[in-house]
Amino acid sequence: ASILLLNGPNLNLLGHREPHIYGHTTLADIEQHLQTHCHQAGLAFDALQSNAEHVLVERIQAAMSDNTAFIIINPAAFTHTSVAIRDALAAAAKPFIEVHISNIHAREPFRHHSYVSDLAMGVVCGLGTYGYEAALRCAIQHLQTAA
Ligand code: DQA
Repeated sequence: ASILLLNGPNLNLLGHREPHIYGHTTLADIEQHLQTHCHQAGLAFDALQSNAEHVLVERIQAAMSDNTAFIIINPAAFTHTSVAIRDALAAAAKPFIEVHISNIHAREPFRHHSYVSDLAMGVVCGLGTYGYEAALRCAIQHLQTAA
C-alpha cells in the first residue's frame, strides 16, 4: 500500500512564500519527513506538487489503478475553485484527508468554502505544516486498522 501526498499551486514556494502565514518549512522538508515516516510504518510513499489543475487531476486518476491506498491533499487555491479536482477525488474513491497550513476559516471569506471537504475523511487546517504529519499519522492508523 502507498500513501500519496498532493500539493497544489504555489506550495512549491513553501518556506519562502508569506512565511508569517505558511511558516519556514520547505515542501522538500515536508515530503522528506512524510516519506521517512511512511517507510518506518512499512508503507510506500509518493508525492507530487503542481501548479496545474490538470496535472493534479491526472495524478488522482492514476491513483485509481496504482497501489495508492490513501491520499493526503492540500489543493491550495484549487480548494476554493476546482470542481475538476473534486470530481477526480470522487471518481478515485480513495480515502483522503484535506490539509491546509493556515486556518482558512480565519481568513478572507473566499477561502471559507472548500469543494472537497464533504468528500474527505477529515480536514486539518490551521496547524501549520504540522498538519501534514497529523494527517499522515491518521492515515497510517486508518490503513493499519483497515488491514
Ligand atoms: C492553503 C490555503 C489556501 O486558501 C491558499 O490558496 C493556499 C494554501 C493552506 O495551506 O493554508 O495556497 O491551502
